[in-house]
Amino acid sequence: MVKGIVVRPGLAGASFDDIEEESSNGRVLVKTLYTGVCGTDREIVAGKLSMTRAERGSRLVLGHEALGKVVDPGNSSFSKDDIVVPMVRRPGGCANCAAGRQDYCTDGDFTEAGIRGKDGFMRESFYEEERFLVKAGTGEAGIEKVLAEPMKNVMKIRESIFGVIGRGLWDSVKGKGAWIFGTGTEGLLIGSVMSSLGMNVMLVNRHGLPEIQQALAASIGAEFFNSSSGNWASGEKKVPMDMVVDAAGAPSIMLDAVRNIRHTGVIVLFGTGGTGMEGKLLGDTIISLVDKNLTVIGCEDGAREHYEQAVDFISENGAKYRLGKLVTGIFQPEDTTVLSAKQQGEVKSVIKW
Ligand code: BGC
Ligand code: ZN
Repeated sequence: MVKGIVVRPGLAGASFDDIEEESSNGRVLVKTLYTGVCGTDREIVAGKLSMTRAERGSRLVLGHEALGKVVDPGNSSFSKDDIVVPMVRRPGGCANCAAGRQDYCTDGDFTEAGIRGKDGFMRESFYEEERFLVKAGTGEAGIEKVLAEPMKNVMKIRESIFGVIGRGLWDSVKGKGAWIFGTGTEGLLIGSVMSSLGMNVMLVNRHGLPEIQQALAASIGAEFFNSSSGNWASGEKKVPMDMVVDAAGAPSIMLDAVRNIRHTGVIVLFGTGGTGMEGKLLGDTIISLVDKNLTVIGCEDGAREHYEQAVDFISENGAKYRLGKLVTGIFQPEDTTVLSAKQQGEVKSVIKW
């Protein structure tokens, strides 16, 4: 038996419980070091995420953001003590899945560890196939590497942006303005990557920036805009709105973006928070989309290469952007309260195993 955090999909609550150990089948045995807690986990624990389903029976092991250490490499090419990040999404049967791009699955026939149809990583240890483990070092693991999972989403955003900017005669993103809505973990990670590309970064939320985020914004070199001020022109004077990335998931952001962004701008919709029911797409928004030659990209998940890029980015730039400081709290697995509520001053809460 190993201990882990289990939920019953569709029902509220989470418990720290015994989990039956799996058989190895030649797979890699990984000892869990850290698991991150995000909004997706909390929606599952609140019983509100409709896509959630168990792997078998009615229980699901929670957790999709993890960092672990190889205990037994099984039949793999890993070595004992390698530090690894497991991938979230597992392929179904479509052509993209078969090509290793399950992040672009076309028929929805995939599973996601800790979210839908596959047990997750909030447990003392787990077995994993080599192809779903990404190497993140050997020996000692810096806690900031637990950000590789949320960071892989950013690497796919980066790829997506480069896929479309030629359309608007942007020769590069350098010197352009990136407005990032949402100042949580994803928003700050996106900010650090856009900044590394030479973009001018504006972080946006509706309230004001807490102290810890102010310090992180400073290390990224980002400006801050409080969108409740409604004073978009003053913000755009500081940072032109050439690109918008929504990491907050409020549909009204799309309306603000289309209204305020410059011609040939790129809007990346990443956030899936909230219910998606507030705000409606108006006719004049659609006309502006066309008239300004805007590009809107929906972007979710990431492929193996994005995990690898995420690990590299954190290794190379983690200290510069002080990414380790995003981890604002370390919790014991027994203490499941962190799974139901955002902590005071939280950016990223992490469970230490
Ligand atoms: C994960 C993605 C996943 C998405 C939807 C996010 O928290 O980072 O990998 O596709 O949730 O389930
Ligand atoms: Zn997540």
